[in-house]
Parts: sequence; C-alpha cells; structure tokens
Amino acid sequence: MYTVPAIEQHIQERSQTVLRQISPDTPVDIYSLADCYALDIITFLVLGPHHSTQSVENVCLERQIVMDLKHLQFVGPLRLHCPILFDYVSKLLDTLSPGLAYLRAEDRLASWCQQRISATMKDPDFDNSRSLLQHILANLQNVRPKQSTDHLYVAAEILDNINAAEATVAVTATYLVWRLTEHPEWQQKIRKELNELAVQENGLV
Ligand code: HEM
Repeated sequence: MYTVPAIEQHIQERSQTVLRQISPDTPVDIYSLADCYALDIITFLVLGPHHSTQSVENVCLERQIVMDLKHLQFVGPLRLHCPILFDYVSKLLDTLSPGLAYLRAEDRLASWCQQRISATMKDPDFDNSRSLLQHILANLQNVRPKQSTDHLYVAAEILDNINAAEATVAVTATYLVWRLTEHPEWQQKIRKELNELAVQENGLV
C-alpha cells in the first residue's frame, strides 16, 4: 500500500519541521509538538499526501482539536464512569462557554475526519493515490463490487487509526525526550552511535 521512500521522506520532512519550531534557550511544549507531529504523519498514511495535516507549523483547526483532546484527558474518569451524564453536561457547557469547547473535542475530531474523508474522495487523483482510505475502498469494491460502500464503516476505520496513532506516538516520544533530558549521558551515547552510522546523500543517517 505504501512505499518506503515516500513514508521516510515525509517523516524526515515532518521531523525537520519539528526541529525548526525549537530554538535554544526557549522553553518548548514537547507534548503538544509531538502530538501535532504524530497527527501529521498518521493523516498522511490514512488520507494520502495531498490531504494530510500540517499542524506542526500551522495554527489550524486540527492543532486546536488535538490540544483540546489533551485537556479532555483531565476529565477522563468522569467520562468513563458517567458517559450519559458527561454527554449531556458537555453539550450544555459547550453552548454556554467557548472555553469549555474542549469537552466536545472527540466529536469535533470525528466530524473533521468525515469532512476530510469526503474531500479526499472527491479528489480527481484519488484512485491513483496511496493511502489507507484508498486501499480500503478499493478492497471493498473488489469484495462486494455491486454494493454501495458503507461510508460510516470506512470513516470509523480511518478515525480509529488516527486515534490509535496520535496519542500513543505523542506520549511515547514525550516520555523518551523527558527521560533523555534527565540523562545527558544517554544523549551522548545516542549521539555517538548516530555519528558512527553512514551518512546518506541527503545528509541524513
Ligand atoms: C508507540 C506507539 C504505539 C503504541 C504503544 C501502540 C499500542 C497499541 C496497543 C496496546 C493497542 C491495543 C491492542 C489490543 O487492544 O489488544 C493498539 C491498537 C491499535 N493500534 Fe497501536 N500503538 C502505537 C502506534 C500505533 C500506530 C502508529 C498506529 C497506526 C499507524 C496504530 C494503530 C493501531 C490500531 C488500528 C489499533 C487497533 C485499535 C482498535 O482495536 O480499535 N498504533 N496499539
């Protein structure tokens, strides 16, 4: 479905964009940055190169949604134990105060995902693009050629991947950076190992 050079190229480009957001002696919110990085990469994989996000460098709707998802974690136990109450209260508070819009962040991500899927599928080049979305739709047509595609199922699959890849990668990368800041000697070891690797034509290892 994907080709290694295309994925590597995108990950390298996103990594360099992350590095450009960081300047020496200025505090940086690694968690938020890692979150945007993870979102940009997973949307590339599921929606293809022309419909992925660029939330690392742009102040955009998608960046706001991932930030709101982080805030939402603070009320995680309440959502888990009282889902119906949470749904009712969050809808009410969302209409009363824009500052509490984060309570509906998951719904906003789901709506965003459906809209982006529709836009992606309308792309005249869609059938030739490489993405999970294109792969799922092509396979569904092979299996059940005469039936209409279940768009809700497809949207759920794409959203599932975005959810699975965004938070996990962000937390893992943040934890890694946190641990490395606590152990400068580990940083030295990693730097030494990287320096021993052969440098490619593009200057990367
Ligand atoms: C450090 C990164 C990651 C960790 C630690 C992680 C861990 C996990 C774990 C523990 C599960 C649950 C398995 C189960 O229910 O038995 C899971 C499910 C899943 N992961 Fe990951 N994952 C990571 C990254 C990713 C990425 C990058 C993707 C997509 C490209 C992905 C896609 C999925 C999907 C689609 C599922 C199934 C979700 C579902 O059952 O609805 N994960 N992952």
